[in-house]
Amino acid sequence: MKENEKGRRDFMGMALGACAAVGGVGALYAAKRTWDPLPSVKAAGFTTIDLSMAQENVLNVEKWRGKPIFILKKSADMKADDRDIVIGTDRYHVSIGLCTHLGCIPAYEKDQHKFKCACHGGEFDASGHQIFGPPPSPLEIPPFKIEGTKLVLGETGPEYQKMLDAGLTV
Ligand code: FES
Repeated sequence: MKENEKGRRDFMGMALGACAAVGGVGALYAAKRTWDPLPSVKAAGFTTIDLSMAQENVLNVEKWRGKPIFILKKSADMKADDRDIVIGTDRYHVSIGLCTHLGCIPAYEKDQHKFKCACHGGEFDASGHQIFGPPPSPLEIPPFKIEGTKLVLGETGPEYQKMLDAGLTV
């Protein structure tokens, strides 16, 4: 390959990379605007999230170890499930927000109480169970510990251990 041809290719590669990066940031920004993070503190692999401000049927997305974490406070008309995290009288669905088919981030359809994955049409109910399409398993529940109204992601508390032992986390 001639030197100037190689230079041009390198430049094209860099330009395409820059476009992809800008597009990625734009997509993240758009996603961030639709997500609704709760007050949280991050330290050494743990993320502590205060759930006292959570609103029913509003998806909150936190980040834990580079992964999106879905936190959904259930409303009274949403079915209770063994995978729910119960704090006081409130029930929460908490999961790693990556589709168990090929890892896309599903969107929450609040009117239908469902997560829908745009990549191949997979669907999960509000407890994270796969209900349609190619996902082979439910949305995964990350290790957690409950401290009052706070959820500590990355620590294994007795509630998580119980779910793990019962095979409910995946
Ligand atoms: S990655 Fe979600 S359905 Fe394929």
